[in-house]
Amino acid sequence: AVERTLSIIKPDATKRNLTGRINAKFEDAGLRIVAQKRIQLTPEQAGVFYAVHKERPFYGELCEFMASGPVVVQVLEGEGAVARNREVMGATNPKDAAPGTIRAEFAESVGENSVHGSDAPETAAVEIAYFFSGLELVG
Ligand code: CMP
Repeated sequence: AVERTLSIIKPDATKRNLTGRINAKFEDAGLRIVAQKRIQLTPEQAGVFYAVHKERPFYGELCEFMASGPVVVQVLEGEGAVARNREVMGATNPKDAAPGTIRAEFAESVGENSVHGSDAPETAAVEIAYFFSGLELVG
């Protein structure tokens, strides 16, 4: 089925001017960017987004990192978009990421790993609604 997923290009990648190269990977994989904006998060806003990780030891560091520079939040659409995006991103830890994936090519560490993608269609709906109104989604 055609799905939508929420993607974030993280501060380590925007700082290194990698937005276009990362977007090309999505488009080459058949994902369409149907909404996109570059924003600066506060640590509090990042904390709400990552609330599911609140009890993890890296939560504070994760929120500070996500607020350390601009992010590009985007909605990717396509057949099986959630899984397809996760394939293109590669494993969370770049050391485990398959060759050719975004994280294998660009990520610096498990924390500064260049991209986020929703883990399931239900999560995607919640994550998309956090950043975008219906009017901003142009399929
Ligand atoms: P993401 O897919 O955005 O979802 C949660 C993030 O937590 C994950 O990518 C990683 O960037 C981050 N993360 C996971 N494990 C660690 C860790 N051990 N140290 C720092 N950050 C981590």
